[in-house]
Amino acid sequence: MDEGPNDATPFLPERKSLKALREAARVCRGCHLWRNATQTVFGEGQKKARVMLVGEQPGDREDREGRPFVGPAGRELDRGLEAAGIDRMDAYVTNVVKHFKFEERGRRRIHATPKRFEIDACKPWLEEELRQVEPQAVILLGATAAKAILGSSFRVTKQRGELLESDLAPIVSATIHPSAILRAPDGATRQSERTSFAADLSNVARALNG
Ligand code: URA
Ligand code: SF4
Repeated sequence: MDEGPNDATPFLPERKSLKALREAARVCRGCHLWRNATQTVFGEGQKKARVMLVGEQPGDREDREGRPFVGPAGRELDRGLEAAGIDRMDAYVTNVVKHFKFEERGRRRIHATPKRFEIDACKPWLEEELRQVEPQAVILLGATAAKAILGSSFRVTKQRGELLESDLAPIVSATIHPSAILRAPDGATRQSERTSFAADLSNVARALNG
């Protein structure tokens, strides 16, 4: 399935504004993932947002609605942001891959982890979003986003919540993906996952506010 150029670069608009980028991304054919998905899910938020949150790829709900983090994982993210005192209005929310990759199980569409070539193909969109927003802080949500940006040897389990040295932004950190909270086996584990997720986000909030 990886035949073809696998690169979104030819689809980038000449004029690089968030609006022009979002518009151009709607018809991106930079890899095969557009074929089965409903629509491109581009990042969302204000150009002057101080925090950029980067997830993996849209889920089922996001694919239908065309907006990032509007499903169950998005609710966990909102909860964490609120606990950390980060205003969603002060956050730009996006994903490393802009089309939903899934496998069909009966009538259900189950998330499938994007492959390296799909992540690399889609990365030009994220790079342009970073250039436009120039966030003070970048928070990578989950192993896929963290490895895509920080390299494949990065381990979220080892370095979650730390402030990392990176030229992406003055403040860079990685934490678990909020969907991991949803997968917790019982209520007590879910609560403790929520608490540590909020603590990771709070570290960034503290750094942001000096
Ligand atoms: N998971 C993600 O990584 N991104 C979304 O937008 C939704 C769920
Ligand atoms: Fe383009 Fe990214 Fe969609 Fe692939 S996943 S078609 S590179 S927007």
